[in-house]
Amino acid sequence: MESVLHVRGRSALSGQVTISGAKNAALVLMAGALLCPEPCRLRNVPNLLDVKRMGQIVRALGVKLDAHGDVLDIDATHIGQSQAPYELVSQLRASFFVIGPVLARLGIARVPLPGGCAIGARPVDLHVRGLQALGADVQIHHGVVRACVRGGRKRLRGAKIYLDYPSVGATETLMMAATLADGETTLDNAAQEPEVVDLANFCRAMGAKIQGAGTKTIRIVGVPRLHQADYRIVPDRIEAGTFLVAGAITQSEISMSPVIPDHLTAAIAKLRAMGSQVAMDSPNTLRVIPSPIEAADIETQPYPGFPTDMQAQFMALSTLSNGNSVITETVFENRLRHVAELQRMGADIRVKGNIAVVRGVPMLSGAPVVATDLRASAALVLAGLAADGKTVIQGLHHLDRGYENLTEKLCRLGADIERVMVPSSETATEAIESGQPSA
Ligand code: EPZ
Repeated sequence: MESVLHVRGRSALSGQVTISGAKNAALVLMAGALLCPEPCRLRNVPNLLDVKRMGQIVRALGVKLDAHGDVLDIDATHIGQSQAPYELVSQLRASFFVIGPVLARLGIARVPLPGGCAIGARPVDLHVRGLQALGADVQIHHGVVRACVRGGRKRLRGAKIYLDYPSVGATETLMMAATLADGETTLDNAAQEPEVVDLANFCRAMGAKIQGAGTKTIRIVGVPRLHQADYRIVPDRIEAGTFLVAGAITQSEISMSPVIPDHLTAAIAKLRAMGSQVAMDSPNTLRVIPSPIEAADIETQPYPGFPTDMQAQFMALSTLSNGNSVITETVFENRLRHVAELQRMGADIRVKGNIAVVRGVPMLSGAPVVATDLRASAALVLAGLAADGKTVIQGLHHLDRGYENLTEKLCRLGADIERVMVPSSETATEAIESGQPSA
């Protein structure tokens, strides 16, 4: 049996939705806790498949974990294992982030290469080169990255590192590794994403000396040891952005909280360019006030540019615009796979390389579709909410990786959406034909 989503479109949404903690902060902060030889507490941790998987990985390294509600107690006092198990790492790319803290704590780390995923090859060369600059000997054998501090020294040593690309993961890996290194490290052309800043703030709460997170240059003065900390993770800007689009695409006025509006500057600006109004009802509450959807060009860029993690959702919106939108994906080489599924719903999209030209159509129609990755699955849910008739979405494991209780949250806003268990053999087409909900 597998669960599929039945979305009956054209229902107006209304009310307020609660935004969960940020997936991409929770994952890296769980890795960051490995730097600390004392128990730490993380709050506002979202209940997601990816978080569960990261939990399994840090447990395999000897960490004690205790989750209660959205609070996670992480005790890395006795991490002894320097090898992360392949069967776990292969399921979660972000698990590669443990290489920095484990190497910094134990002087050795062995982490399988995470490999590519649906949206791209996802190499880790920037992580490796940075660790080498910090004085590690890094070898890749049989798909495992083995890093150890050179010359029998115990600690990595500070270095000046220039990143060829402002990679989020490489910035986070190197910032964590440098936290316990001997001396000062500067990371130039660093990623500026809010999740990088959240990691730096968590490390500082543990006693790290980090300056400049959120800018292109981060300075880290290594310290010999960190101490326990109790830290609250930021709200998920991508989940909030997804709900902003849910309001615009269904022509519904909805609000969401808690959010940090600054984290959504590019997405809010684009939504306004596409005709919607976005009001800030309080410092941590946003409300979207829809109006006819206008076409707009979009080019994904590293933060503070337009986020690649919002590209698919905005493409769904532009399919119903009053003109042509040119959408260029510059961050990942294979992140337009949702196009074929949106075309099944009647969207008019032409693709050439990493550019999609979207001609707005008056209406989408419900259809059986398959989610190909996390953000593509969100785009299909949004398209289904606006479409005429029923959309059946398969591949929900993608959605569960990054959205906490999305179906329930949408139902509370008035969406006609439900999870239905179907025999794995049954295709989405048959599910539409059977029309028998059996949640
Ligand atoms: C993080 O991935 C996020 N994941 C991604 O979110 C997000 O799309 C991405 O940053 C960009 O914002 C997590 O935080 C867990 P990158 P990450 O390193 O760190 C290339 C989602 O939907 N690159 O900034 O892996 C790489 O191939 C996910 O929640 C190298 O070439 O992203 C890509 O083309 C998807 N060499 C580009 O840089 C390297 O060593 C950006 O990757 C590292 C990266």
